[in-house]
Amino acid sequence: MTEHIRLKQEDGVLEITFARPDKKNALSNAMYRAASEALNAAQQDSTIRVVLFSAEGDAFTAGNDLGDFANAENSEPQAGVFIRSIIQAEKPIVAAVQGLAVGVGTTMLLHCDLVYVAETAKLTAPFVNLALVPEAGSSRLLPARIGHVRAFAMFALGEPVTGSEAVAIGLANRSAPRDEVRQVAWDAAKRLATKPLGSVVATKRLMRDMDGLAAHLATESHQFGERMRSDEAKEAFEAFAERRPPDFTKFA
Ligand code: COA
Repeated sequence: MTEHIRLKQEDGVLEITFARPDKKNALSNAMYRAASEALNAAQQDSTIRVVLFSAEGDAFTAGNDLGDFANAENSEPQAGVFIRSIIQAEKPIVAAVQGLAVGVGTTMLLHCDLVYVAETAKLTAPFVNLALVPEAGSSRLLPARIGHVRAFAMFALGEPVTGSEAVAIGLANRSAPRDEVRQVAWDAAKRLATKPLGSVVATKRLMRDMDGLAAHLATESHQFGERMRSDEAKEAFEAFAERRPPDFTKFA
């Protein structure tokens, strides 16, 4: 277990908190692993009826740790493990997004069942800026949720969506002042934990096309892996490390 993931359990709710605020909660392999293990264990634990994701500090998460991306050849990336856990979770998932959510921070919300955001939160999915393709099934789920052109602007131009806009376009249930978001999410999660779990789980299952998503995910993951190994992506990761803008024009 890493110190960058904190767990708290109360009234049938397991809270999984991203706790690496000095790095904007960028998700390291150790954090993905710990969050996946907690989420998987919750599925078997009869004392847990709802899982709640939250984060410390001013950002929800800056997405995948770009250092881990750059070293992907040397270590087994755990992002896919986390994404599979969140997709396969049968119990309901609530999210409290108090600040910036980049990449997987936004795409994971497409697999959450109740999403609460700060009015000032910013959701971004700038995969093309990193010379990648969208992940976590988001290339299918995001356009289905908010329409092609809005999703394309998020993916290809890296355009952010604010918390208030996220509610308007169906990415979140409700926005609240930043300091209140976690409490709003906890209140909803506790309310959900009093509902008949069998009915909640069956309803969630009926609402999702797991077979279609699995097929799409296989294609998307393959292309993501190819993009990760591309010269364009190498340039994007080096540029981030060197704190300079990337230059993609040198690639045909
Ligand atoms: N991976 C690794 N470290 C990250 C990170 C990431 N995805 N995002 C931020 N950090 C680190 C920074 O390197 C910095 O570390 P340092 O203090 O040791 O230098 C620290 O977190 C604070 O980030 P900083 O960039 O100084 O803060 P900011 O407020 O100016 O900007 C972001 C915040 C999130 C907008 C900016 O850090 C960013 O664009 N990060 C990359 C986001 C991204 O592309 N994620 C991948 C999506 S798939």
